[in-house]
Amino acid sequence: MSKVFDLWNEVGGAFGPSGREDAVRETIAAIAGEYVDDITTDALGNLICRKKGAGKKVLFAAHMDSIGVVATWIDDKGFIRFSQVGGLFKGDLINITVRFANGTRGVISYEEKTPFKDLTLDNLFIDIGAKDKADAEKQVQIGDFAVFEAPRFEQNGVLCGPYLDNRIGCVTLLLAMEQLAEAETENDLYFVFTAQEEVGLRGAGAASFAVEPDVAIAVDVTDTGDLPERKTPMAVDMGKGPAVKVMDRSVICTPAVCAALEQAGADCGIATQREILQFGGTDTAALQKARAGVQAGAVSIPTRYIHSPSEMCAVSDVEGAAKLLAQFAAGQK
Ligand code: CO
Ligand code: ZN
Repeated sequence: MSKVFDLWNEVGGAFGPSGREDAVRETIAAIAGEYVDDITTDALGNLICRKKGAGKKVLFAAHMDSIGVVATWIDDKGFIRFSQVGGLFKGDLINITVRFANGTRGVISYEEKTPFKDLTLDNLFIDIGAKDKADAEKQVQIGDFAVFEAPRFEQNGVLCGPYLDNRIGCVTLLLAMEQLAEAETENDLYFVFTAQEEVGLRGAGAASFAVEPDVAIAVDVTDTGDLPERKTPMAVDMGKGPAVKVMDRSVICTPAVCAALEQAGADCGIATQREILQFGGTDTAALQKARAGVQAGAVSIPTRYIHSPSEMCAVSDVEGAAKLLAQFAAGQK
């Protein structure tokens, strides 16, 4: 197994749906401690790691929260209705396993009388094998969050499993931090692991406001165009290098930052791709809109099956992204 897999297995295995990031934050802080001078947590739950310097303030951000579900109603038979935490697609949910913070597991199933094509999340329920409502309530309360539970594996140079989005972005930052720990740079580096991205980019803006960076870079996953018969063409392939974001639905990146990221890739021998994501947004937008505006860009890991329990990305893209980010951080003048 690669070092990337081991880190992802550890960081990805921590429970952390949006607004409940404590376990992920503790896991990351324990690893990051030796690479930086200072670690703080703000009121929103963002983890802010700083490697002090007198030069430019460069902020990197990866969201540490994941999508999930929250219990909203328990019926007399003990079946649990739920609402979404972040964007869910019903096709990814049927017959999958979810896990609550206390370790209780359940299977998501659906009302068979509703034609399959008409199903919405309201027709789905979680079965924890309870005898009745009272039995269910011993294990799950209204307002309890749950996350996908599925195996993580590495095979043929790719990683597969739940929550590459965005624990692999967190891993990328940790790898870049390790490379920068001993690097010659005067720059003032901030590595922020943000909260609540999946429910509307809520953490990143506060962190960007507080740090007041000269330039800010988000690290997240992006879609790929390399699967059979995709509806929308996209010039990003898994395994062809980290993607430098041009724009997505939430942001148009600062052109000078895009160019500097591509140059950083060229300077350290990492091929990059250009990303235009036509659906979905990223923390880049919140970083950019803080205070009077911040120069912002993003580096993305090309990932298949995003928001399913079986996301897939290439190890080489993660390693390349980390190297590129370290080059960029040290090179900012
Ligand atoms: Co996401
Ligand atoms: Zn994400």
